[in-house]
Amino acid sequence: MTVALIIYITLQLPLFSSTANFSEPQDKFSILKKETEAYFATLPSNIREDSELLVPDLIRKYGYPCENHTVVTPDGYILEMHRIPHGRKSFPDKRSVIYLQHGILASSADWVLPGPRKGFAYILADFGYDVWMSNVRGTRYSRKHTYLDPEKDSLEFWNFSWHEIGVIDVPIMIDYIINKTNENKLFYIGHSQGATVFYVMCSEKPQYNDKIKAMFSLAPIAFLKHMISPLLLIVAEFRTEILALYNVLNTYNFLPRNEFLAQLGDTLCNDNSTFQILCTNALFAICGFNEKQMNSSLLPIIMGHTPSGASVKQICHFAQGVKSGKFQRWDYGWVSNLDYYGDTSPPNYNLRNIYAPVYLFYSKNDWLVHELDVMKLHTELFNSIAVQVFDDHFNHMDYLYAINAPDLIYQRTIDIMKHYN
Ligand SMILES: *[C@@H]1O[C@H](CO)[C@@H](O)[C@H](O)[C@H]1NC(C)=O
Ligand SMILES: *[C@@H]1O[C@H](CO)[C@@H](O)[C@H](O)[C@H]1NC(C)=O
Ligand SMILES: *[C@@H]1O[C@H](CO)[C@@H](O)[C@H](O)[C@H]1NC(C)=O
Ligand SMILES: *[C@@H]1O[C@H](CO)[C@@H](O)[C@H](O)[C@H]1NC(C)=O
Ligand SMILES: *[C@@H]1O[C@H](CO)[C@@H](O)[C@H](O)[C@H]1NC(C)=O
Ligand SMILES: *[C@@H]1O[C@H](CO)[C@@H](O)[C@H](O)[C@H]1NC(C)=O
Repeated sequence: MTVALIIYITLQLPLFSSTANFSEPQDKFSILKKETEAYFATLPSNIREDSELLVPDLIRKYGYPCENHTVVTPDGYILEMHRIPHGRKSFPDKRSVIYLQHGILASSADWVLPGPRKGFAYILADFGYDVWMSNVRGTRYSRKHTYLDPEKDSLEFWNFSWHEIGVIDVPIMIDYIINKTNENKLFYIGHSQGATVFYVMCSEKPQYNDKIKAMFSLAPIAFLKHMISPLLLIVAEFRTEILALYNVLNTYNFLPRNEFLAQLGDTLCNDNSTFQILCTNALFAICGFNEKQMNSSLLPIIMGHTPSGASVKQICHFAQGVKSGKFQRWDYGWVSNLDYYGDTSPPNYNLRNIYAPVYLFYSKNDWLVHELDVMKLHTELFNSIAVQVFDDHFNHMDYLYAINAPDLIYQRTIDIMKHYN
């Protein structure tokens, strides 16, 4: 573990790596980079275009309507939402509104990358739903603020965790959608951290339960005691040191250096698979992937859109849950906890405040979401139903990208939603 920390720190520090000669990781990275470039060069231009287009342009390219909406939070973050109001054919009757919430290091792109008939947002729009995709603070489309500069005021801009996303960003976007559409309730679908922030919102602001018809948690994260993600295990071990380090660097923007990820990828991935380029992606270094269900043509498109930006505090807040086994607010250390919470330890989120119906989709091969942790969440929620995915190889990112996700997840979700219409 100490060795891991030393590697982690030295590779994080731009200062160190520019003066010292880390030839080995550098070499590994440049080889990977060359391989990746060679691979990209063989791609059809259509795929290269999909990896470069912004989400609204990507959606319009495939003949779907797309609107771009912005909301400003009380603490100044400017958030962008992308809406597909209906499918390629518009339905005369008014259909329900769906709010899609992406996970960590992701964005609205998650729901459309696999293309029409495969991406969840397109499938929902084709069924006539009014689909809204959020982008939370810090991500590619919401890296804007009324007075802070994400680069110059880095420490202040990135000084948030998923707690702030759950109590500020998500509620304000839901209010905006409800106002715009004249509906009083919507369906909420969240992947990974997208489910976490829902539990934060409804436990801290229970009135939001009344705005939800039903909530679908895809690979929900709340309790993390049994997760096996190597990167999160490292962070869990050195949470305090990592935060201190970022503090010294004067930023909380989580941007691991590519050399570090190339090294990590080397130990995580099969040596000569095309999938190795994925291992250099922070998202997959945290979540892992399932080679069987991964459509290799999607790789460059995924790489073009992720990772999308996050605060290191989001990662550290998850790592805190790995250690404590609890779903609780940010731990400032016991002295400061007294100031913030009036107690030496941070309060737990009160899951008993959540009464909207919650469907928990989980799978056996998920690095981050262990069955035992889902069962704990299931017993703490009043109104939840656990739904196991019928594929034992299904991993964390498969909910978005797997070739069989439309059959295993999306169709099932739509069948359940029909009961609420
Ligand atoms: C760094 O290491 C490489 C490979 O061992 C070597 O070719 C290069 O000269 C070294 N650079 C410096 C500045 O020491
Ligand atoms: C969405 O609208 C905002 C505000 O008008 C604009 O700054 C942003 O560039 C737009 N985003 C896209 C992807 O077009
Ligand atoms: C970050 O937020 C905490 C409150 O969560 C606050 O105490 C601290 O001063 C903030 N730091 C910066 C640099 O804004
Ligand atoms: C809804 O939006 C309109 C303008 O777009 C605004 O005037 C009104 O205050 C909003 N209502 C609520 C409840 O937010
Ligand atoms: C690596 O690639 C070679 C040929 O490109 C192949 O023969 C070999 O089986 C591959 N190894 C693994 C572990 O996939
Ligand atoms: C794989 O992705 C490509 C590019 O989006 C798509 O054209 C193809 O249909 C996909 N294949 C499967 C089996 O999903």
